[in-house]
Amino acid sequence: MQRTLRIIYASTSGHTEFVVDTLAKYLKERDPQMVTTLIRAERAMPEDLTKDDLTILASSTWNTGSIEGQLNPHMHAFLMTRAKDMDLRNGAFAVIALGDYRYFYTAKASDHLSAFIEHHDGKQVLPSLSIINEPFDQTERIEHFGDELITIMKTLTTKAEG
Ligand SMILES: Cc1cc2nc3c(=O)[nH]c(=O)nc-3n(C[C@H](O)[C@H](O)[C@H](O)COP(=O)(O)O)c2cc1C
Repeated sequence: MQRTLRIIYASTSGHTEFVVDTLAKYLKERDPQMVTTLIRAERAMPEDLTKDDLTILASSTWNTGSIEGQLNPHMHAFLMTRAKDMDLRNGAFAVIALGDYRYFYTAKASDHLSAFIEHHDGKQVLPSLSIINEPFDQTERIEHFGDELITIMKTLTTKAEG
């Protein structure tokens, strides 16, 4: 049975982009039935949050508004402004957050993404994946998250089934 996944992501220096590209490539190899759509937060529309069987929100942590520990500015603009009135009831979500140990609020984007899902009545169906520091040698963790995603997606009712 075909299942659909959408990954909405924000990335400034390319780290989050590396993580979601690595994940998408792994999922394609491991589960050819899964159809994955990647979309940058800059281009995302509120409806993108509810189109697929599962939606991943992925963001690095930034000092948006001059306060450390915030979402990447593009994800902040999408979730807190354009999508602020979205109803995510019955939607299945997962979270990927990046950060750096040099900052006090390490990878705090994770908390903001989970809180957005919860406040809009969505369901986060997996523990968040946090990637601290450069992601390039953390492929194994990304692939492990991919395996968990494949398992959980098999338990979800597909939108195609209604
Ligand atoms: C201006 C700025 C502010 C940042 N603030 C934080 C922060 O508060 N907490 C944290 O864990 N990482 C922080 N980081 C580190 C980034 O989250 C980290 O480098 C991440 O891998 C960048 O991912 P991206 O290239 O996808 O944007 C900050 C980086 C920059 C450049």
